[in-house]
Amino acid sequence: MVEAVQGAGVVVTGAGGGIGAALARRFAAEGARVVVNDLDAERAKAVAEEIGGIAVPGDASAIVGEASEALGGTVDVYCANAGVAFEGGETGEAFDERPWTLSWDVNVMAHVRAAHELLPGWLERGSGRFVSTVSAAGLLTMIGAAPYSVTKHGAYAFAEWLSLTYRHRGLKVHAICPQGVRTDMLAATGSAGDLVLQPTAIAPAEVADALFKGIEEDRFLILPHPEVAGYYQARAAHPDRWLTNMNHLQQKWEASR
Ligand SMILES: NC(=O)c1ccc[n+]([C@@H]2O[C@H](COP(=O)([O-])OP(=O)(O)OC[C@H]3O[C@@H](n4cnc5c(N)ncnc54)[C@H](O)[C@@H]3O)[C@@H](O)[C@H]2O)c1
Repeated sequence: MVEAVQGAGVVVTGAGGGIGAALARRFAAEGARVVVNDLDAERAKAVAEEIGGIAVPGDASAIVGEASEALGGTVDVYCANAGVAFEGGETGEAFDERPWTLSWDVNVMAHVRAAHELLPGWLERGSGRFVSTVSAAGLLTMIGAAPYSVTKHGAYAFAEWLSLTYRHRGLKVHAICPQGVRTDMLAATGSAGDLVLQPTAIAPAEVADALFKGIEEDRFLILPHPEVAGYYQARAAHPDRWLTNMNHLQQKWEASR
């Protein structure tokens, strides 16, 4: 049991399935009171019933008030987990701005809006925990998915900024950056996901395990696939070599399609 979490009021967005449901299950098992949010009300209700939590369906961007009320006025832990992924979206094809605007709205702005509502109370109390489900794509990139790669970099940058700005005022921030996780989202990534993510994909519960280890060790960066640390270092140390290697992967993907 993790002491910091026992009895805490926790909100998990996009928790009707996948990684969010695994986080909600783990927080409940650790003795937290959990609000289960999802756009899909039925799925949110089902997970809430299973774990003895409270369902607050709706768009993750606009649920902090209702979730806080459901928890008796205080959110101790906010997991910004809801996310969307689209294949393509890069210029050069028939250009469609919708994947960009929706990705920006859900993968970045929902985090910013929630933090904006939560920070005054957290800073006043001198405590609060913001958990961002980013992706290894936020540290590296994702083949064939420009809006996802760019907005996940944005989500990572925002989590980083929150952490460095408020860590001396009691705010804890964690950025979870997994590669493939066996969820509906991974199943929908098509041939790029099959090539890059499926071979090392892990179960959603393993992401929750990695987060809880990170909470115990008071770590910002949570890497459920530890090898991502090496890729991240290689990208920073040798940008052109890294880009050439990623381009080889791109060509391999093109040849496989
Ligand atoms: N599956 C992976 O391989 C993987 C890897 C790295 C990061 N991630 C990230 O993990 C997070 C969870 O993804 P998942 O794989 O569990 O996907 P998933 O599709 O299984 O679950 C995402 C859930 O979010 C909900 N959702 C979407 N938009 C929403 C919104 N605006 N408000 C509330 N709920 C919304 C969906 O209804 C869905 O139930 C995402 O941010 C994703 O980018 C996933």
